[in-house]
Amino acid sequence: MEPNELGLNIHILTLIAHKLRTPLSIINGYSEAVVAQAGKEKFSPFTAKALEEICQQGGHMGQLIEKLAAFNKVMMVEKNALDKRPIPINKMLKHCTSLVLMQRNSAGLPTDSSSDATFVKRGVQVDIDCPANLTINGNEEMLRLCISELMENAIKFNNKMEKIIKVQVANHGDSISLSVRDYGVGVRPQDVENLFKPFFQVDDDFTGQVNGWGLGLSMVQRVVTLHGGTVSVVSDRGLGSIFTLKFPL
Ligand SMILES: Nc1ncnc2c1ncn2[C@@H]1O[C@H](COP(=O)(O)OP(=O)(O)OP(=O)(O)O)[C@@H](O)[C@H]1O
Ligand SMILES: [Mg+2]
Repeated sequence: MEPNELGLNIHILTLIAHKLRTPLSIINGYSEAVVAQAGKEKFSPFTAKALEEICQQGGHMGQLIEKLAAFNKVMMVEKNALDKRPIPINKMLKHCTSLVLMQRNSAGLPTDSSSDATFVKRGVQVDIDCPANLTINGNEEMLRLCISELMENAIKFNNKMEKIIKVQVANHGDSISLSVRDYGVGVRPQDVENLFKPFFQVDDDFTGQVNGWGLGLSMVQRVVTLHGGTVSVVSDRGLGSIFTLKFPL
């Protein structure tokens, strides 16, 4: 089992993700069952708090394992094995946006408001500007993953009460660009070159609090490369970031 060009042994990472899944699902299943069966009011405040924390952290760990599994899958796929089809971009963006906003609100409250091009939910507003009927020849599952990762970052690395995200798609004749802009914490110039490295996370007071592996952007870069495209970022600390994906037509 050889490490890949990034020095990572994807087979070992796949094995780790797989082995962790089963015990964690048992821990999560039992802790949720205990809370559901006994009812929170039966516990002392300390036990109730401890159970709540166990359930919450178990959920986080489950998300970490699923992201590691997704990373392994994206890293293992070969360019010529990619199943590509024409995908209507506007429809894909709207679907991804709805999913990201829905997952963010696990309590399942209804969407506050949404129009054809603007989605608003619980302090997050996503504006989509995409030419109608524009299609891209690509792997839908992987492109959706890219969009979701960029949107999740735009929400996560943002401490504004009202988080605004602008998604813009443009047809340049020989290429299509897709950018995701946020007005969040931004990135320091010295960190920009490291953003796409697997497991890299900016080490500061804000980012240190945020859940994740530092794998989302490396997956984005891999998917874009598999499609023959490029990814770039323009960012200002404190003002926000624009991540742009460019695909040849
Ligand atoms: N929109 C953004 N604004 C500010 N910083 C960002 C943004 N997107 C990414 N970063 C920085 O780049 C790092 C790497 O991003 P990446 O998506 O790879 O990892 P993550 O979000 O921390 O974890 P994961 O994606 O695995 O859940 C982040 O930890 C953060 O420091
Ligand atoms: Mg991320």
